[in-house]
Amino acid sequence: MRAPNRAVLRAERCSTFLKIPKNISAEPSMLDMAWPKGDRMPVLTFTSPSMHKDVRVYAPAGDTHTVLAVAEKNGVKIPYDCKDGDCGSCLILVEFAEANKAKMAITLSEKEKAKLRELGKITAQEIKDAEVDDLAPHYRLACQFIVREEEITIHFTGSPGGS
Ligand code: FES
Repeated sequence: MRAPNRAVLRAERCSTFLKIPKNISAEPSMLDMAWPKGDRMPVLTFTSPSMHKDVRVYAPAGDTHTVLAVAEKNGVKIPYDCKDGDCGSCLILVEFAEANKAKMAITLSEKEKAKLRELGKITAQEIKDAEVDDLAPHYRLACQFIVREEEITIHFTGSPGGS
């Protein structure tokens, strides 16, 4: 099998989000090896009983789209209303693939913290863990969570605020 053409990979990376089949692994692959070190792509897998199958998406590293924006761009229907952290419709459960990966700062806005607290989906200890120790909370609002370098699986029920 031929190695992927680096120029093609770069062109794809610079265009838009890439939807790839579920059977293509995001673990070390030719794609990963062809990428410059320290320039990792976020990999998001969306899963829900409301979908026929999971959708896995590579997003360009350094992009600043929210999980909700990535979902919309790829036809994944996470429920939403306000897109501003107010309604809680876009609640998601986030699972990180790499438990031993270097920690990254967790950004939770006051609005997101307040809404998650109101929904009973985050505790004061989880907020402290996120802000002091960079431990990601389990629940997030898809409209507030900006994708970075993580490989994550995003669970949602398909009902507003249902994760
Ligand atoms: S869409 Fe309302 S909180 Fe995300």
